[in-house]
Amino acid sequence: MSIHDDLTTLRGQALGALHAISDLSEVDAWERQYLGAKGELTAILRGLGALPAQERPAAGRAANAVKVELTSAFAAARAKRASAALTERLDIEGVDVTLPGRSPLIGTAHPVSQMIDEISEIFGFMGFQTVFGPEVETTRYNFDLLNIPDDHPARDVWDTIQLQSDGADLILRTHTSPMQARVMEASGPPVRVIVPGRTYRYEAQDASHEWMFHQIEGLAVDTTITLADLKGVLTELARQLFGPERRVRFRCDFFPFVEPGVDYAVDCAICAGRGCRVCKQTGWLEMGGAGMVHPNVLKAIGYAPDEVSGFAFGLGVERMVMMKYGVDDLRAFAANDLRFLQQFTRPFASRSSQTEATA
Ligand code: FA5
Repeated sequence: MSIHDDLTTLRGQALGALHAISDLSEVDAWERQYLGAKGELTAILRGLGALPAQERPAAGRAANAVKVELTSAFAAARAKRASAALTERLDIEGVDVTLPGRSPLIGTAHPVSQMIDEISEIFGFMGFQTVFGPEVETTRYNFDLLNIPDDHPARDVWDTIQLQSDGADLILRTHTSPMQARVMEASGPPVRVIVPGRTYRYEAQDASHEWMFHQIEGLAVDTTITLADLKGVLTELARQLFGPERRVRFRCDFFPFVEPGVDYAVDCAICAGRGCRVCKQTGWLEMGGAGMVHPNVLKAIGYAPDEVSGFAFGLGVERMVMMKYGVDDLRAFAANDLRFLQQFTRPFASRSSQTEATA
């Protein structure tokens, strides 16, 4: 048999076999059988060298023509089977539009953020603007301008987290009070602001202490501000947040940046002041510190203490959420457990829209 006969037979067999294939993987096997390195056509091509020189060109042309034909037949067959396989997959995995849809999970604000929003809104109605400040602070704003000089023992009260800062005295703010100085510096009296935000202390964690927690600072400075205004504002806050029957307690306390200073507590809404697990049987829950802005703070900023006076307060936001919902471990707020967080899901409705809805 001549090489031309071999080529004709091989071509016929190969095209016939290719025609009969329906599966994509068999097409690839076909290619290996005929066109691969150890394939049948390749073997014929290798044999060309053994032909007499005058037969070689014609045989070479014929062999190449078969190779081109088989290669393009392979490409076409592969494309056809691949598209058939895709169509089949789409048929099987296609979307069934008659199935009921899956409703997307809708997130809500974190309970601490909800509390900040609620408090901001309550203070908004009382004429306070909400502002935000830096969490990385200088010791000047966190301490010096708040009447806590370098050598003052009160600095030790706040277990400060220092930052490595090439002598720039940078820390993570231990309270939101540095914003008192920043706000007064930026604008003259009158001032009425609240400042929500994160604060940090190098503290051992337990059920009522975190190393990162939220505070809300309040500051009002004007010509006629007295302690009565402070008490009125914080009493209104307690009643708006926890119910109109709430009672508040102000006891003497010391903070270097206020004089006089008080601690502010609300009677426990969970047990109505009778004593329970949340209020540790005392009937009261401490919300934060407050007082009249110290004249030294006003002076350091450039305000005249004989012309203006002011009050300031700093509230612990997590503690307020704990009181409102009877949460007994503050660490739950940062633990990111959805079973805990989903209990605080509430529709987005502002205090004003709630009021309108019930009016
Ligand atoms: C202050 O931080 C003062 N800057 C508050 C202040 C402002 C007084 C303005 C006077 C005028 P104190 O360290 O007590 O004070 O913290 C205030 C509140 O933050 C506490 O009552 C508590 O509710 C909350 N708090 C304090 N430490 C933690 C903590 N480790 N974890 C959670 N909440 C805390």
